[in-house]
Amino acid sequence: MKTDITQALVAEHRLILRMITLLERNAVRTAAGTYSNWRFYRDGVDFIRNYADRFHHAKEEEILFEALIKNGMPRENSPVAAMLMEHDQGRGYVRAMETAVLEIQGGLPGREHVVAENALEYAALLREHISKEDTVLYPLAERIIPESMREEITTSYQRAEAQSDASFCEHYAKLVDAYEQE
Ligand SMILES: [Fe+2]
Ligand SMILES: [Fe+2]
Repeated sequence: MKTDITQALVAEHRLILRMITLLERNAVRTAAGTYSNWRFYRDGVDFIRNYADRFHHAKEEEILFEALIKNGMPRENSPVAAMLMEHDQGRGYVRAMETAVLEIQGGLPGREHVVAENALEYAALLREHISKEDTVLYPLAERIIPESMREEITTSYQRAEAQSDASFCEHYAKLVDAYEQE
């Protein structure tokens, strides 16, 4: 049996998807004028930047995708290139959402729809993105990356995770839990 190199990433997707569901639910209400807890969007931006990006996407970009490239996947015009582009596109939506929330908190009227639109664009992008990784890219990685490289990959994941303190994952799981109860 081969050493697994994608199961941890799939598990992280599950928590990211729960945040995406919250963004969808709350953005629809914000667009309708019935939800204005801006703290949620600030926490959502923090979750995406630190958990989805710094923690999860960093493992993909620096470790798993590099291993795919070492095993013959082109760096340009390839599924990996497409995934990297989508990570960047996501960062753009998050920046726009954050800017609009800060404007609202600063007293600027009429920015609610910008928050809602960017939250929904981000959610749609990431839902598609995660689905492609779960069903196409990760299974491909499990097929083509040889056992001889797998220990180094799992060690690199651990090294990346060690850059966050021990309560990091628990903190973000609790954050999602709390907003699901809201
Ligand atoms: Fe990704
Ligand atoms: Fe991912």
